Amino acid sequence: MTIDNPIEIPGALSILVYKDLYAKVKGLDAFPRDEWPDNLPLLYYAYHVMAGLGTIFVLLFGVALVSLWRGWLFDMKWLLWWLMLCAPFPYIATSAGWMTAELGRQPWLVYGLLRTSQGTSPLVHSGNALFTLIGFLGLYLLLGVLFVLLVSKIIGQGPASIDLPATHVPQGPGH
Ligand code: HEM
Repeated sequence: MTIDNPIEIPGALSILVYKDLYAKVKGLDAFPRDEWPDNLPLLYYAYHVMAGLGTIFVLLFGVALVSLWRGWLFDMKWLLWWLMLCAPFPYIATSAGWMTAELGRQPWLVYGLLRTSQGTSPLVHSGNALFTLIGFLGLYLLLGVLFVLLVSKIIGQGPASIDLPATHVPQGPGH
């Protein structure tokens, strides 16, 4: 129920949430305990992973954009490495964002009207749900493998020739 090392910006959350400097944003303590999401730590860290990665993207790609514009980018090996290593991060941020939305809306399916616990259908048995889940896992695994194969193939072909001053055209091996 406390915030460690807060940086307080008065009115910022009111504007973000309600576009009104004076709107009151209710905290968790304004809600009865049985209406709290049941996995607060996971929600907290999912949100922070997403927003943290988002901040890293803004900073890193800001530096990359300026470097590209000034013509330094292809000489900055460390930055190119970081850009490449960042490739999985949007997937992590997207999953963490989805977790934020799903965990954060608990325990409601329809806010104030229908709880998640009331939303299960007595006609759908756990075996059916598991079967569908396995089906989707298989489908997405196939799509995932195809994605990696296609991306590897395109990366293997290397960049198309780009219109840059001769000194900034990346030199492949043997040049
Ligand atoms: C500073 C950076 C970011 C902030 C402040 C932020 C904020 C939020 C918030 C507040 C939500 C919950 C929305 C709701 O359900 O009411 C959300 C959801 C989400 N975010 Fe972020 N986000 C950030 C960066 C990112 C990035 C970089 C990605 C992906 C690359 C991302 C992907 C998502 C996704 C997929 C959802 C779930 C949407 C849904 O299922 O409704 N977010 N974000």
